[in-house]
This record gives sequence, C-alpha cells and structure tokens, in this order.
Amino acid sequence: MTQLTVVRGDLTRQRADALVNAANSSLLGGGGVDGAVHRRGGPAILAECRALRAARYGRGLPTGQAVATTAGDLDARWVIHTVGPRYSAEEDRSALLASCYRESLRVADELGARTVAFPAVSAGIYGWPVEDAARIAVETVRSVRTEAEEVRFVLLDDRAYDAFTARLSRTA
Ligand code: AR6
Repeated sequence: MTQLTVVRGDLTRQRADALVNAANSSLLGGGGVDGAVHRRGGPAILAECRALRAARYGRGLPTGQAVATTAGDLDARWVIHTVGPRYSAEEDRSALLASCYRESLRVADELGARTVAFPAVSAGIYGWPVEDAARIAVETVRSVRTEAEEVRFVLLDDRAYDAFTARLSRTA
C-alpha cells in the first residue's frame, strides 16, 4: 500500500529517494521549484539535463513526460523532471497534468525509488488553479499502481497545502 502524505515546505529540503521537479521542456532550468532544484542541487543536475537533451530530447522533453537525473547536492538519490501543461481556460489539459504524476511514478518504479516527493506541478508559473491541480494529483496517484511506499506532496504555501490536505481527506 502506498501512503499519501502532505507536508508544508520547500521541496528541495526534503529527504526522499526521488524529488520530482516541475520543469519545462528545455530541462535547462527556470523559476519556481525548478530554479530551487538547480540552485540547491548544484551544477551536476544541469550537466545531466544537458546530456539528456543532446542524447534523447533534442526538441525538449514533451509535456506530460518524465525523466530522471541524479540529485546532486540534494538529500535524495534522483530528481525526476516532469513538464506540466500551462493552464488553459479554453482547452482541457488535465490528461497531460495527470500524465506528469503517472509518468513520474513509472520512472520512480524503474529506479526503485520507495519515497517520492512531488510539488504541485503546474500550480505556479503555469497557472493551474490549485484546488483543481490538487484534485488531479491526488486522483491520479491513487489510481496508479506503484511500488513506492510513500508519495509525499510538498506544498510551499498555505493555499496549496490546504487544497491538498482537503483533497486527501475528502477522497480517503
Ligand atoms: N518547494 C515546493 N513548492 C514550491 C517551491 C519549492 N521550493 N517553489 C515553488 N513551489 P512552479 P509550474 C510551488 O512555478 O507551475 C519554472 O520556471 C509553487 O508555489 O514551480 O509547473 C519551470 O522551469 C506552486 O504551487 O511550477 C517552468 O518553466 C508549485 O510549486 C515553469 O516554472 C509549482 O510552481 C513550471 O511551472
């Protein structure tokens, strides 16, 4: 049984086998979680990302997919980079957001990660309303078959923390 947990805090201060990064297709860094991962994780992560771009993702990592690097100076074994969709009021992109969680957990299983920590993918710079982002995250993780013993949602602000907590207790 996978335990789903919620904590308030900075993803990059977590100890876990795998930390999921809310990246962009370039894999070359950005703001939000991504900025923090590369700042705190050091240059080794970026070097691996560049190598992945050169070897496998010349056009970038597609939205909804996930790929792993080692975790540099972070207190983890791996960083799993996933690319969330930008929120659109005109187009329903929830399947792509669900795919981020599913694919990240698939990669985590391949690696043998037992504890996996996620941020609220797409709920920052990519503009996804956080209550809906929490619903998709929790429903997807609950529906996926994974070897992970713990999937931890790490939320930086009160609103995201409350949204994930409410969603977890509601559908428990
Ligand atoms: N720990 C935990 N949560 C965080 C942290 C942190 N250190 N920093 C921000 N959050 P975002 P996105 C929260 O913007 O929406 C980057 O430039 C934040 O409050 O990090 O998927 C990438 O390169 C929000 O709730 O990711 C992409 O271009 C959630 O994490 C783009 O932003 C996600 O916010 C991705 O945008």
